[in-house]
Amino acid sequence: MPLKITVIGTGYLGATHAAAMAELGFEVLGLDVVPEKIEMLQRGEVPMYEPGLEELLRRHVAGIEGSSGRLRFTTSYEEAGAFGDVHFVCVNTPQKHGEYACDMSYVETAFASLAPYLTRPTLVVGKSTVPVGSAARLAERLTALAPAGEAAELAWNPEFLREGFAVQDTLHPDRIVVGVASERAEELLREVYATPIGEGSPFIVMDYPTSELVKTSANSFLATKISFINAMAEVCEAAGGDVVKLAEAIGHDERIGKKFLRAGIGFGGGCLPKDIRAFMARAGELGADQALTFLREVDSINMRRRGHMVELTRDAVGGGFLGKRVAVLGATFKPDSDDVRDSPALNVAGQIHLQGGQVTVYDPKGMENARRLFPTLGYADTALEAVRGADVVLHLTEWREFRELDPGTLGEVVSERRILDGRNALDPDLWRKAGWTYRALGRPQA
Ligand code: UDX
Repeated sequence: MPLKITVIGTGYLGATHAAAMAELGFEVLGLDVVPEKIEMLQRGEVPMYEPGLEELLRRHVAGIEGSSGRLRFTTSYEEAGAFGDVHFVCVNTPQKHGEYACDMSYVETAFASLAPYLTRPTLVVGKSTVPVGSAARLAERLTALAPAGEAAELAWNPEFLREGFAVQDTLHPDRIVVGVASERAEELLREVYATPIGEGSPFIVMDYPTSELVKTSANSFLATKISFINAMAEVCEAAGGDVVKLAEAIGHDERIGKKFLRAGIGFGGGCLPKDIRAFMARAGELGADQALTFLREVDSINMRRRGHMVELTRDAVGGGFLGKRVAVLGATFKPDSDDVRDSPALNVAGQIHLQGGQVTVYDPKGMENARRLFPTLGYADTALEAVRGADVVLHLTEWREFRELDPGTLGEVVSERRILDGRNALDPDLWRKAGWTYRALGRPQA
């Protein structure tokens, strides 16, 4: 009998994982406590924008014409407990309000809700990003709460998917990391990944704490790389250098590499910012806070870039925002996503609005979420409408649509042909040739 799989939590991670497991031939039951989400998923609709996910989901959701029928959804833990041989926990671990630590309440609730229904040998696999030490503690709770006792085992299997590439990253991971406490758990996970998913991907087995640390250290490294290049952008600005050329040149050294060296208004989203903060908080609890003090600097360089973008904009419009119209292109924390969590673009837009600027935002996919989070900002339905009458245009999320804009057409409707590129993603020559004053972070003005 092929293994039956449940996926608990149907956000970016869980919805993608559930659909991917069905694609690989497993019978899958997805669980979420929000009934509206489950209703949407059952109709084959994805509650967020993630390229390729809806198509993948519709290929498998039961009841959809032509689907494999291998994927169903529920809100019932009882049903999930009875169904699954392997349960993947994919719930969110957001930052606690007003604290650095992460909020483990969704993970705790998921374990406490599932455990009473684990009556036969099962494997629960944590995928959420958690503070190191959580897996060992959760394994004990599982044994204590599950009727199956020690036959209800735990493994930790961190997920490294990027939003915007969730389907591709899940179906073709660059590594599979598993933290286990028994051979049986390792064997079961090998069985799950002994599918096309694992082909060509190193399968790395380790203990619980190391597997938890792999995830937080990987994200810390990525955040550090971005803040490093943004620190170089600050120095370039002071010295008259060009950070884009600098990044290109240092990136040719394979030990450094070209990726994640794009200077701009920095990182945001539901992962990197909260993960480095939670990592610092956890290190403090463990008495290892000194080891991670550099992450404090990584965080502050990152936040400083947002403030710097606001300052540059203020200078560009003559020193004050009152009566000035500012067009903002981009609201999401990165392109190809509708996610606005901790979005640098919206943070900059919000600061300018608070300082009296008249801000109009346009984003290809993030408008609904942006409106919900920042209802007082102005919004337009197209880039052209957003820039109409603008004294300055800010490019804050590097969507392809923005790179393909015609500066000539936009130039006809703005009040001033002035653009600040907060992502170093537009072609300066193209804009300058069309009569715009183009300025970017970390680059000389002309
Ligand atoms: C990240 C990790 O990449 C992923 O492995 C992990 O599983 C979850 O966290 P994600 O949050 O989807 O993924 O976004 P990512 O592509 O890492 O970008 C994060 C932020 O960094 C974005 O705001 C992006 O604009 C910014 N960034 C990225 C830069 O400012 N410069 C860069 O060179 C790269």
